[in-house]
Amino acid sequence: MTKICCIGAGYVGGPTMAMIAKKCPDVQVMVVDINEERIVAWQTDDLPIYEPGLLEVVQEALGRNLFFSTDVDQGIRDADIVFVSVNTPTKTFGEGAGYASDLQYWELCARRIKEVSTSDKIIVEKSTLPVRTAEAMERVLHSGDNPVHFEVLSNPEFLAEGTAIEDLEDPDRVLIGGHETESGQKALQTLVDIYATWIPRERILTTNVWSSELSKLTANAFLAQRVSSINAISALCEATGADVADVAHAIGTDSRIGSKFLKASIGFGGSCFKKDILNLVYLCETYGLQAPADYWRQVVAMNEYQETRFVTTMLRSMFNTIASKRIAIFGFAFKADTGDTRESPAIRVCRELAGEHAKVVVSDPKAIANARVELSDLLDQIGFEEDPYAAAEGAHAIALLTEWKQYKELDFQRIYDSMAKPAFIFDGRNMLDHQALFNIGFEVYSIGKGNKTHLK
Ligand SMILES: NC(=O)c1ccc[n+]([C@@H]2O[C@H](COP(=O)([O-])OP(=O)(O)OC[C@H]3O[C@@H](n4cnc5c(N)ncnc54)[C@H](O)[C@@H]3O)[C@@H](O)[C@H]2O)c1
Repeated sequence: MTKICCIGAGYVGGPTMAMIAKKCPDVQVMVVDINEERIVAWQTDDLPIYEPGLLEVVQEALGRNLFFSTDVDQGIRDADIVFVSVNTPTKTFGEGAGYASDLQYWELCARRIKEVSTSDKIIVEKSTLPVRTAEAMERVLHSGDNPVHFEVLSNPEFLAEGTAIEDLEDPDRVLIGGHETESGQKALQTLVDIYATWIPRERILTTNVWSSELSKLTANAFLAQRVSSINAISALCEATGADVADVAHAIGTDSRIGSKFLKASIGFGGSCFKKDILNLVYLCETYGLQAPADYWRQVVAMNEYQETRFVTTMLRSMFNTIASKRIAIFGFAFKADTGDTRESPAIRVCRELAGEHAKVVVSDPKAIANARVELSDLLDQIGFEEDPYAAAEGAHAIALLTEWKQYKELDFQRIYDSMAKPAFIFDGRNMLDHQALFNIGFEVYSIGKGNKTHLK
């Protein structure tokens, strides 16, 4: 029986390993983490992360061939294949601070693997890493006099939070990078065979390690770039009377462009886009490529511009003062169907509103606990209400920041009746029926579209 160990039971390690365990009952999957609370939660009905369909997948395999443990060393020792799926955040200190990846958690894992292993192993980079990390890891793994052989593969994860289960069940592609040596190709084949249990072979792409590592950073940079591109156009739409949804539709029907990821909004969030682009910028600079570095940096700059522009619009339209005004935030997660708030645009929006001395009340169906942590230094100024009706009561404005489907279904007449007048709504995701809101009496503002106002 093949034994897999995954170090890191987070947003990636948990769902990916649950899917492998579900699809490959003959493979034993052990997920280990130093975070005891997370390991305990994975074995309950109250999983540590919210992801549609995840609970069913975990429950199918839990205790059969899927296990969770805090005994990292034992997990590594028993395994034939060790996935490393720990966090790789942006460095906050020293050289490359604010750009480079912080590889300390990854390196600690490599050292632990070297320390405790007594048999040959395949080590799989699941975390998103800078190009040529595998080289550094191989040096760490093969340092000293441990005779064990480690073969490092790159297998970046392309799942998107909110649709992780669909993405894992039926991915556009799986990417595996291996060395072009005999042992590299053998290891690569072992991993291909696992994925081939449920994924058609033609969708399993194999490359060398460096192409695989770079492809993950490139994919995120391209996705984020599309969001920043349409957001740049949204500002011009507002200035000219064009409608960004019409523009996006018109260009998206061009098969060379394609229709996905062309929705104007307050901006992208999530733990990956910004950090991966900044990492790409750092890599470009490391290789002396200043123009490519500047090019990609601008994608992040445009995102920050869009977040701040949203708050400026709120301030200008609400008569240049929001001090002491209650503002209800509808949605704090960085996108719908997740409780994840890392790098959510809502963080900057709430902070800037609080900076204007507004009374901010945050509502969200899944992310209130994380929102409290993100805004922990502002708890005297920011309130939390899971129920959007309660958040909006007495408010001067609503800012819709996450595209939760349930916000479409709200009784906006009831909400309008409970608010201070004039009642403003700022739709940061362009998801509501703006004409209907206007007819109720709202002052309606959106992204890249004409505003609807009763005020003269
Ligand atoms: N979140 C996503 O949507 C996504 C998608 C694709 C790729 N990725 C990449 O996957 C990686 C993991 O991301 P995530 O969102 O799952 O992070 P996460 O923070 O949710 O999970 C990482 C886990 O690793 C654990 N950990 C850290 N050091 C450890 C150690 N030495 N031993 C044991 N456990 C340790 C942490 O306790 C944590 O639970 C990152 O490199 C990220 O860029 C994330």
